[in-house]
Amino acid sequence: MTRSTPVGVIIGTGVTGHFDLSRPKNVKSAFGSVTVYEQAAERYVVIPRHGAEHKVPPHAINYRANIAALERLGTKEVIATSAVGSMNRGFVVGGLGLAEQFIDFTRRREVTFFGDEVRHTDMTNPYSRRVNEALASAAMKLGVKLRAGLVYVCTDGPRFETAAEIKMYRKLGGDVVGMTGVPEVVLAKEKGIDYSSVLVATNWAAGMQPAVSHEEVSKVMEGAGKLVKRLIEGAVRGLTGDER
Ligand code: HPA
Repeated sequence: MTRSTPVGVIIGTGVTGHFDLSRPKNVKSAFGSVTVYEQAAERYVVIPRHGAEHKVPPHAINYRANIAALERLGTKEVIATSAVGSMNRGFVVGGLGLAEQFIDFTRRREVTFFGDEVRHTDMTNPYSRRVNEALASAAMKLGVKLRAGLVYVCTDGPRFETAAEIKMYRKLGGDVVGMTGVPEVVLAKEKGIDYSSVLVATNWAAGMQPAVSHEEVSKVMEGAGKLVKRLIEGAVRGLTGDER
């Protein structure tokens, strides 16, 4: 049995070019309208997090509109992609992984749908085990190594971190650092949407290599994009019961 509600795929830096952006659809939400892109062969829609032309910086993304738009489409699962700097020597540049936990170091973002009511959302396990399992199973079929259990530290950006900040994040238990994972996962959880993030280590975090650049991040991410797309499509098939 297949079903009609699409999986939401929120794609980040570097992978936009690998997806079909020829079928835009405008979805209105209480937080603004969002353009989602229907994918022909698979049962999912794509939202390029930074816009189709990569012009929206991490701190200016309308995270609430993106999640609210997916909710309107009836989306029950979100698979996101995130470029990250690795702070864990065992998770090497070019590696793919799954987030298990996050530590939030953002300070200036709209972090909730519940601004006007007293609602506290359990965040013990922010990422969906079910969606992570679908991704792990797709990775196994593709023969792709996918490192599980990573702790994602989120910063506001748009600057990269200082070497001292990375030392601190490592001490606190972080494995990877990025700028967009929070509040995206939090907002999905508030809406009861199962959310998972495919992490791509695009660089060693600050202080672990001489300097960090956006060019390097984009280049490594673009290199991984094709595989990330196949992984996502495999997981989508698993989640929607469209396994062949
Ligand atoms: N820091 C923050 N965000 C990132 C990094 C990084 O090193 N690499 C890719 N996104």
